[in-house]
Parts: sequence; structure tokens; C-alpha cells
Amino acid sequence: MNVRDSEHMIAELNQKESYELTDHLEEADLIIINTCSVREKPVAKLFSEIGVFNKHKKPGAKIGVAGCTASHLGKEIIKRAPSVDFVIGARNVSKISDVIDKKHAVEINTDYDESTYAFGEYRSNPFKAMVNISIGCDKSCTFCIVPATRGDEISIPSDLLVQEISKAVAGGAKEVMLLGQNVNNYGRRFGALEEKIDFTGLLQKISTIEGLERIRFTSPHPLHMDDAFLEEFASNPKICKQIHVPLQSGSTSLLKAMKRGYTKENFLNRCEKIRTLCPEATISTDIIVGFPGESEQDFEDTMDVLEKVRFEQLFSFKYSPRPHTEAAVFEKQIDSSIAGERLTKLQSRHTEILDEVMDAQKGKVHRVYFDELKPNGRVAGRSDDGKLIFVQGSEELLGKIADVRITKTSRGALDGEVV
Ligand code: 5AD
Ligand code: SF4
Repeated sequence: MNVRDSEHMIAELNQKESYELTDHLEEADLIIINTCSVREKPVAKLFSEIGVFNKHKKPGAKIGVAGCTASHLGKEIIKRAPSVDFVIGARNVSKISDVIDKKHAVEINTDYDESTYAFGEYRSNPFKAMVNISIGCDKSCTFCIVPATRGDEISIPSDLLVQEISKAVAGGAKEVMLLGQNVNNYGRRFGALEEKIDFTGLLQKISTIEGLERIRFTSPHPLHMDDAFLEEFASNPKICKQIHVPLQSGSTSLLKAMKRGYTKENFLNRCEKIRTLCPEATISTDIIVGFPGESEQDFEDTMDVLEKVRFEQLFSFKYSPRPHTEAAVFEKQIDSSIAGERLTKLQSRHTEILDEVMDAQKGKVHRVYFDELKPNGRVAGRSDDGKLIFVQGSEELLGKIADVRITKTSRGALDGEVV
């Protein structure tokens, strides 16, 4: 979502303020650091980055801080780093033109509704369009700072989405990535406008856009994976067969403490349903280890889910206590070294699973959408099920979909040849 927010800022600054992107820091008149605050590390990194920019920027160049850390720390950022000229929150992106010339402006209102704002057009990759379908998050997962930084959830009207996607398709995009903190809660609340549509309805509506060939989305929430949604996922030929199902923990009691709204069994049931309806789908997940109160048995439950589902991609994190969250003040915080050991164990086992999955790809044929030129005459693309695949080729392949036979496998990516 931050990548898309950055695109929105670039578009606004280019079309309303005549700024252009530069690859050279010393040339920049304006530097914006778009930040994450979901874990503590990137927040700490922000202040060292500001120092680096101060050292190398040209005299008089402005520095702005955007994103979730901006929402969360607000004017505190300017207090700690007075060289920062303005602070703009993750919920206030459309205000970028207003803040760049106001010394020490702090725009971080999380009630602000920009769900129908018509942003300018900028896409870093013309072949794949990212499109926000909602802003904010209505959940209250006890570990997560996002509801405090991005505010309540508001869906973007479906007609606006169809318009935006159609425009991207006319500009050469065959693939769309629908973005939201909780995409399958789409339609629960709109801003000023009333509309009766849910995420399944939105997928059906978007599928009618001519020239659009692939639909991806992230992230769905396991709690809202009803049968109708999974049936649409499995049967709609435009929907890519890759699905992110964020587990967080395999322990039912920990899931309760996290306020995730499902049990280990519900989660496994949804994954089984995906495998039954759509055996070719790949499933990825997010897992947190070392959440307060996590016992050895809780952690074994997480390992058990990994064993049963065999996630193709795993994003795993050590629990990081965050301000404005319930879990930060829970008793029984877990020792960092224990959390570290568990993370290593989880990741090592996942690596073994991934090696088996990738080894089995040799000789398989995937439909690949090529979207990026790489050095040494290589072109990269993604298979329908989300695998990164390289072939030898030139820019003629860009924007094309072709069948590729896998010739070489590795943990992170596959090599193949167009057949
Ligand atoms: N500590 C560690 N990981 C977290 N995430 C969210 N909050 C925290 C936290 N406090 C992880 C979750 C989420 C992903 C985007 O980041 O796994 O799904
Ligand atoms: Fe955070 Fe939970 Fe919302 Fe995801 S669903 S953004 S983990 S509060």
C-alpha cells in the first residue's frame, strides 16, 4: 500500500506542482521518505535516513516524512529532527500539494476521507496496475498499529474502481493488483455514497473489463473467506491462483488474544477448501512468533499449521510491541532470544518445504506475464500462481503472456524458456 501511496504522491507532485522524479539525490529539490510503522525497526531507521539525506542533499532541498510513522509520531518527528520540513500521514496523501510549501506542516488526521479523491495518474510499472480498493482497517488485532495510523475502513465506490482500472488497461496494463488492509471486507462501509456490493461482487464486476486479463489482490482476511468468495476465486479465469491467507499464529488461544476472530481449525478448514476448489492455487501467509504469552505448545501449533498447509511463501516476523496497541501492555512478553530461536526454526522448516516445492517445478509449463526487463538479456514475469520466472529475451516480450517451460529451479525464482 505504501508503494501505491508513493505513486499517488508522485502523480500529484508531477501534475499539480511540476516536480519530476530524479535518480540523483544531490539533484532533488524535495525528498519524501514514505514510512512503515508496523514493526519498530523501520521507525528507528527513519531517523538515521534523515541524517543521511541531510548530509547529501543540495542546500535548500526540503525533506518530508510520509506514511504510517508520520501518522503515528506526527510533530514528534520535527521535534527530533528539525530539518524535516513537513509530515504527512498515510491517510492524508491527497494533501501532499498543500503541505510541501508550509514550513513544519503536520497533516495526520486519521478521520480524513480521501476514498473518492481523484489522484493524478502515475504507475511505476505500466504493465501491472496497483489499485487501492479501500483505505484504513476496521479490525482491532491486538498487535497491530495500522488501525491507529490508517484510520477506519472506507471502501472506494466500485464505479470509480472500474474507471481507474479501465484507464490503466488502456495504458497497457493487463494485470491489476487490488489493494487494501482487508480486501475481502470490501463494501462494508462507503464514504458519502451508499452501495450494495461485497468483494465477490467487486471481483465479478472488475472481471467484465475488456482487455484486463489478470486480477490479483492483497491482503484478504481468513475470517471473511466465505464459500462464495472462495468459489469465485477458484472459478473466475481472470483471478490469479495465488492467495495470501495471513495466519499470524496456529494457536487458537493466541489467536483469541490477538483478536483475529478465527481458530486454528477454522483456518485449516479455509485452506482445505481452497485446496479442494483450486488444487493449483499457491497459498502464502504471515506469521508472528513470540507474541505475548506464546508457549512452546502454542508455537508447535504454528509449526503444525505450516506442516499441514505447506505455504509456498512465508512472511515471518518476531513480535514487535507497538504503541497504541493492546498487546504492548500484555503480561508475559516473550524473551527476544526465545522468539529468535522460534523464528529460525520456523524459517528453516519453511525453507525445506520451499525447496521441495520449487524442485518439483522442473519441466512444468507456466503461463507467464512478462513485465520487467533485467540485465544480461533476461526478462522477468510472474506465473498465474505468483512464481517469479526468468527467460532469455528482449523488450518485445514485455506486456506479453506466454507459456514457459521451467528448465532450472532455485529457492527464490525459476528459469525457463518460452515454448
Ligand atoms: N509485530 C510483528 N509483526 C507484526 N505485523 C503486524 N504487526 C506486527 C507486530 N507488532 C505483521 C503481521 C501482518 C504483517 C503485515 O506484519 O504478520 O500480517
Ligand atoms: Fe492490522 Fe489486523 Fe487490520 Fe491487518 S487486519 S491491518 S493485522 S489490524
